[in-house]
Amino acid sequence: MNRRKFFIPAVLAALLLGSCAAPSAETLPTLIPQPQEVAWSRGTYRLPAQTRIGITDPLLAPQADYLTEALAPYTEAVRSETASGDIELGLDTAALADEAYRLAVTGSGVRITGGSPRGVVNAIATLRQLLPAGKGAEGVIPCAEVSDAPAFAWRGVMLDVSRHFFDKEEICSLLDQMARLKLNKFHWHLTDDQGWRIEIKAYPDLAGKGGWRHYNKHDTICMGRAAREKNADFLLPEKYLRVEGTDTLYGGYYTQEEIREVVDYAARRGIDVIPEIDMPGHFLQAIEHYPEMTCFEPETWSGEAFSSPLCLGKDEVLDFCEEIWREVFELFPYEYVHIGGDEVNMKNWNRCPRCQARMRREGLADGHALQAWFTHRMERFFEANGRRMIGWDELLQGEVKPSTTIMWWRPWVPESVDLATRQGCDLILCPQTWFYFSLEEDAGSLKRTCNYRLVPDSLPQEQKARILGVQGNVWAEKVPTLSRAEYLFYPRLLIVAEKGWRPEEQVREQELMPRLMRYCARLDAEGVNYRIPSLENFHEFCVFTDSIRSTVTCPLPGAILRYTLDGSVPTVSSPVYTGPITFRDNALLQVRAFHPDGRTGDWVKIRYEKCGFAAPTEVAETRPGLEAEWFFRRFPKCDAIGGAKADGGCVVDSVQFPKVAQGRRATGIVFRGYIRVPEDRIYTFALASNDGSLLRIDGRVVIDNDGEHTLIEKTGQAALSAGLHPLELRYFDYNGGRVTLALVDEQGRRQPLTGEWFCHEAE
Ligand code: ACM
Ligand code: ZN
Repeated sequence: MNRRKFFIPAVLAALLLGSCAAPSAETLPTLIPQPQEVAWSRGTYRLPAQTRIGITDPLLAPQADYLTEALAPYTEAVRSETASGDIELGLDTAALADEAYRLAVTGSGVRITGGSPRGVVNAIATLRQLLPAGKGAEGVIPCAEVSDAPAFAWRGVMLDVSRHFFDKEEICSLLDQMARLKLNKFHWHLTDDQGWRIEIKAYPDLAGKGGWRHYNKHDTICMGRAAREKNADFLLPEKYLRVEGTDTLYGGYYTQEEIREVVDYAARRGIDVIPEIDMPGHFLQAIEHYPEMTCFEPETWSGEAFSSPLCLGKDEVLDFCEEIWREVFELFPYEYVHIGGDEVNMKNWNRCPRCQARMRREGLADGHALQAWFTHRMERFFEANGRRMIGWDELLQGEVKPSTTIMWWRPWVPESVDLATRQGCDLILCPQTWFYFSLEEDAGSLKRTCNYRLVPDSLPQEQKARILGVQGNVWAEKVPTLSRAEYLFYPRLLIVAEKGWRPEEQVREQELMPRLMRYCARLDAEGVNYRIPSLENFHEFCVFTDSIRSTVTCPLPGAILRYTLDGSVPTVSSPVYTGPITFRDNALLQVRAFHPDGRTGDWVKIRYEKCGFAAPTEVAETRPGLEAEWFFRRFPKCDAIGGAKADGGCVVDSVQFPKVAQGRRATGIVFRGYIRVPEDRIYTFALASNDGSLLRIDGRVVIDNDGEHTLIEKTGQAALSAGLHPLELRYFDYNGGRVTLALVDEQGRRQPLTGEWFCHEAE
């Protein structure tokens, strides 16, 4: 066959090939993650009606089965009697690393060679993306040679099935999606305060009773959102309701047989399943049904504080935990298991005579030392059973063994990265702000996750090597359906796939973002829900003196925008937004993006206000900077911040979380003073915070970024005459925060506001 090859990166190839006859840029498939090397050549291979799959090694039988399933929409695939076939799977363990592969598509067939069965799985993922997506699509594959290997060994996904349950079929659907993206670790958060989801035969009430509950606060929130936001993704699925007389219970659990099926399904797709049985905290469902395992009568989960942990003074608790793990080991054949260990409420341990006696006997100074003692004891048990332990980075508050792998989730404890790797621990990264996908998004979140630096430059080389990879997590408190989980996972999970697979310096926002938008067409074709990327080109609050035109746009081609002006939530029957609307009076424009089939999600509210320029204020004597005052408490809203006496205060030259106020889990800060503007103008401000913030100028709300949330930026305007204007900015934080205030110019660039912009009144 006369083939012309182009050994160039795929994107460049796409550009260059635009001028050649075939394949053209438009017809080249969109690949995520981008393989290391792709050499496109002319022509295509069409899968025959019956496709024979040949394997050169019996080890590859599960992968042949997986490929058969994956090709079902295109062809009836069958196993060939011999090693030859239309598609051939083979191994080259000498030349290729474990997960590496080569894939060759020629006019006469497909040849796949992996460094191991996992490498073959990765090649199948590429093959699936080379095929067109969608019902009725033809099995035509562009000819190409691909040579590829991952940058990171850990490319993970975590789903919490405790706060809401997802059945075996839903988990398998997520696993198949993971395999398409070469994501290879499924971290299954199986137990927590709100539900125990794994059958343990020695303790049947754990799942039998602990898998079911009466509606709790999370469920009510979901039901409320379903109604208010007209979004069926928040409805609790009827299949998870169990009616007993007048009682309705909600939940479910996996039988051991179902777990085996999931593990088997994952294994064919090259995915390790890592069970997390969170202990000694986050254990309430178990404790409610085995109350003898805690220090005192268990408190019911209030929805606020962390729950009562296991009593680590009782030997029977250790037996209980080991028995649970023994059954877990039987079900999960993999190297790693996850013990959790996060957010333990140690209050009980300090007053429990048994815990106190254990601490005295073992010479343990405090609760962290007691937890470390328990963790080490469990780790010895894990190791005796051939397993390696993973735990959340709270484990670093006590002594850790180098054998423990740490999962870093707390960005407000950045030192965890150095601390873990310096002590010889491997590290998996899922820092909350960037990789907790249950947190809702703003227009900057995709780019922020894309640009997040996984391996800090400052880390010594041998510590860098301890970073195993990256993971995207969905906690399910407000996620009752798979469709909602997909909405949160996608498209951010595409970024995890890309960052986990490619060397960091090759992942570039400018290149990845358009590819990610193109990949959304494949998600559509596969019936996977996803969040339409944020609407752009608007401010949440716009002011004008005469008239103003709306400017909002959507970055995703094909999405349908619908709007309202009467304060109601836009629905699938609201008018279509086709372009700018001119306003001459105050208005509230709400715009929401819809998929063509009516699926939707969050939406934007844009307030337009007609006003004059606010007059400046006379102040007799000023000093530079803003006054900041803080209170160490948890506040639900910005206007609740305050108290009889502040816990501290200082003058700052910009809006920021003062260093002296950091280090507490919950803080509220009020910044007060004046902003000095140089000319009469409409000024646009950008306020980014994690959690809530509220900006008032001249006593009027300019930006309302209130409520508990991750890093979200909002923008708003004020029409100000030259001079001083009173400014008040309220901000609260729970779990590590950040706040910044910037000026936005005509091009949308953010200029931090500092120094000469701010002053306060001299006493
Ligand atoms: C966690 O988010 N508590 C690990
Ligand atoms: Zn105790």
